[in-house]
Amino acid sequence: MRLDKFLSDCGFGTRSQIKKDIKAGLVTVNGDRARKPEQQVDETSDHICCRGHTCVYEKYVYYMLHKPAGVVSATKDASERTVLDLLGAEKKEALFPVGRLDKDTEGLLIITDDGALAHRLLSPSRHVDKEYECHLAYPMDEDQKKRLEQGVDIGDKALTKPAVVCILDEKKITLTITEGRFHQVKRMLHAVGNEVCYLKRLRMGALMLDRELPTGCFRRLTQEEVELLSK
Ligand code: URA
Repeated sequence: MRLDKFLSDCGFGTRSQIKKDIKAGLVTVNGDRARKPEQQVDETSDHICCRGHTCVYEKYVYYMLHKPAGVVSATKDASERTVLDLLGAEKKEALFPVGRLDKDTEGLLIITDDGALAHRLLSPSRHVDKEYECHLAYPMDEDQKKRLEQGVDIGDKALTKPAVVCILDEKKITLTITEGRFHQVKRMLHAVGNEVCYLKRLRMGALMLDRELPTGCFRRLTQEEVELLSK
């Protein structure tokens, strides 16, 4: 593949930035100064350094997005802004969000081009935990909590799987579920006589939403975080 594409895929910036780095002698291929952006490299075996860093080729790309309310979890939409639009210059055809959050839901959304990882995270048989912070219209009582923990009838064929409820204050809870049914959290709370006023996803599997990541912003997942998701 082309050297400039390789470096840009590794996250070293735009192709024009990389062109400047090559010209400035900041890029080496197997110890030799790189000549030009279109130089061909073998991403699996060449040792490539840029600005003093060794570049490790990643087959797939993984982003953590702190989804804001008001954008839809889709790759394209005729009239609404999508979560992919928030990636700006890093938006690419092959990327997609792993699962959906409602338009008014905030929080952790993974965006990737790794279909196998998405399949593993979303597969009903894998029971990957999703933890949500919910602000409620009414105080949560013990009876509501117990029903959520046992599984509730939300109008589907089967009851929901038992959830984990943690009461933070009288109208604020965290709810952890292992399924991903349509509007599941809102429907579960409605089924026990409450209503969700605000919803935010905090965690998916072992991956927590980065508290330092402002709403509407994204960043690449670290290698360790990708490994956490693959567990
Ligand atoms: N459950 C919901 O009701 N909405 C979401 O966005 C996610 C889970």
